[in-house]
Amino acid sequence: MKIHIVGGGAIGLLHAGLLAQTGQEVTVWTRTDKQAERLQAEGIKLEMLNGDVRDIAVNSYSLASLQPGWAGQAGADAEQSSAWILLTVKQSHIDDRLLDQLRLLSSGKTAILCLQNGIGHMDKLAASLPGALIYAGVTSVGARRLDDARHVRHTGDGPLWFGAYAEDKKDDNLQNLLLNILKSAGFRAGLSNEMKDRIYQKLLINAVINPLTAIYDTTNGELPQHPSRLTLMRSLFEETSAILTADGMKSGDNGWQLVMQVCAATAANVSSMLSDVRTGRQTEIDWINGGVSGLARRLGIASPLNDAVTTLVKQLH
Ligand code: PAF
Repeated sequence: MKIHIVGGGAIGLLHAGLLAQTGQEVTVWTRTDKQAERLQAEGIKLEMLNGDVRDIAVNSYSLASLQPGWAGQAGADAEQSSAWILLTVKQSHIDDRLLDQLRLLSSGKTAILCLQNGIGHMDKLAASLPGALIYAGVTSVGARRLDDARHVRHTGDGPLWFGAYAEDKKDDNLQNLLLNILKSAGFRAGLSNEMKDRIYQKLLINAVINPLTAIYDTTNGELPQHPSRLTLMRSLFEETSAILTADGMKSGDNGWQLVMQVCAATAANVSSMLSDVRTGRQTEIDWINGGVSGLARRLGIASPLNDAVTTLVKQLH
């Protein structure tokens, strides 16, 4: 099975390494030529959960090298064959250029699994790639990239749920194929037809932990330790939970417990948003709390805390 991993960050390299180990034909599409050259020459250096370190060969090219007619050059049957694209880039990288590149990559029968935090991106993808099958994914696996090209550490296990974004646009064979491949690569993968709910549950967790860890510059574990930070977490949780529930989120009862559990389970971690702020990268605030504020506006509900943290985080970078 051809599997294209779009994005050479921690999550992209982890999936590429684990899938390539099972004998799948994996290609990693990167943003820079430099990273693609290193990956093509040296492969992925993967530190497994048990501490084993392996070098795993993959194909790698830069996204910029994709040209019209790419599928024809890549192999005689590329137009007819089916493939999966695992989209692992950050929300902020899903721009018009990337959408053009995804269009070039998705020849033949292609399904795209989106593994982003936040909301808003799948509408964009579905509108720009009407021929592709779009799948939503929610993952709790942890990974950290340890150099600028090929060294990744698998830092945490967790479920990976995926399902068709639109019920009438799916392919049972393709999704079962991916499910089996993911499982044989060691992922705790499952198909779900409740993806909106799963996305909203993850969004709720990210909407509380990510902006506040970025604003207070603390690890996930330290965040709830201070009483005033805990009060703010709870208020942001209540506001966000009410908005997501008004937009159809079903399972809201143990949401607060889940937020606290994630803080405890990832206590030593720096959230992705704080990491972006510290390294001067654009954060995903527009698609996390900004996304929640957008839903609230559509529903005619006020979202003062989500609006405020969105403004504050934008001023940090
Ligand atoms: O974005 C992140 O960092 C993670 O999704 C989470 C759950 C907040 C843990 O760090």
